[in-house]
Amino acid sequence: MRHPGSLLKELDLTKEKFLDLVSQARGLKRAKASGVEHPVLTGKNIALVFEKSSTRTRCAFEVAAHDQGAHVTYLDPTGSHMGREESIPDTAKVLGRMFDAIEFRGFAQDTVETLAEHAGVPVWNGLTDSWHPTQMLADVLTMTENSTDRVEDISFAFVGDGHNNVARSLLVTGALLGMDVRIAAPAALQPPADVIAKAHELAATSGARVLVTDDPEQAVAGVDFIYTDVWVSMGDSPEAWDTRVPLLTPYRVTAELMKATGNPGTKFLHCLPSIHDRTTTVGRRVHDQYGLDGAEVTDEVFSSPASVVFDQAENRLHTIKAVIVAGLAS
Ligand code: CP
Ligand code: NVA
Repeated sequence: MRHPGSLLKELDLTKEKFLDLVSQARGLKRAKASGVEHPVLTGKNIALVFEKSSTRTRCAFEVAAHDQGAHVTYLDPTGSHMGREESIPDTAKVLGRMFDAIEFRGFAQDTVETLAEHAGVPVWNGLTDSWHPTQMLADVLTMTENSTDRVEDISFAFVGDGHNNVARSLLVTGALLGMDVRIAAPAALQPPADVIAKAHELAATSGARVLVTDDPEQAVAGVDFIYTDVWVSMGDSPEAWDTRVPLLTPYRVTAELMKATGNPGTKFLHCLPSIHDRTTTVGRRVHDQYGLDGAEVTDEVFSSPASVVFDQAENRLHTIKAVIVAGLAS
């Protein structure tokens, strides 16, 4: 049975629990900034298990744990027996005997769910192919910091690969919280039908406005935030670039798309990392193979005053800290 302090996907949370974590994060952020943070996790040990790469999520868990007095052990994508010589349930039982909590980033959602079933300690999903719940807490904190509206009155549009983990998570998070949430993606890259159905079901009680369309201009009309993510995610084959570039080029976030909102105050969000110029290996390859300077967003938008992506990245720390503090208190 899973520990109640676990966080495996947004659909496991109520609106109240979600907003409570965001509010705890706001308090922890203030406490750290004013030098009055009170560590409550002294003596705790947390395992950080990664099947995929990470900058923000790993660092946020490490710094959050250290700020709160806990220790971490990082298991990299090749360094443990998990899934090769040792089953997920056996690994969960072993880690659960040694650690007070486990963070997992990887491919299958089923892996994190199985870890949680068998570990006996809180398990936190640091991203799977299906969901990215800790990212959502940071995104909602960032949106509320950049808006004077109640969360229910905030509108945002995700434009790009609507089939990926971040888009799915945004859709159900917006629906859970009663927000105005829109996804613009080509028909072949829209969220799975069951995720869209779930969003509509949540909207029926939360009052959310949910739109899934293939028309980026329709999606962004009047919105407070435009959000995008990479066109090829960590779980995708690198060959996917060949089909994604022609499919997704009409969905790049450009200055024209920002203007198409008709709202001069629209802000830009991205979970990062981002391909917005030619300064990375992938960015150079996208340029050399497809003639694009940047992929899902232009550097003009990414580097503009409307972009709040680094505030959003910092908020991973404060929100993940809320998850571990609340999870270990449960
Ligand atoms: N946004 C995010 O999860 O970043 P990392 O892949 O660097 O952890
Ligand atoms: N959709 C991206 C998010 C990275 C934080 C991926 O899964 O690679």
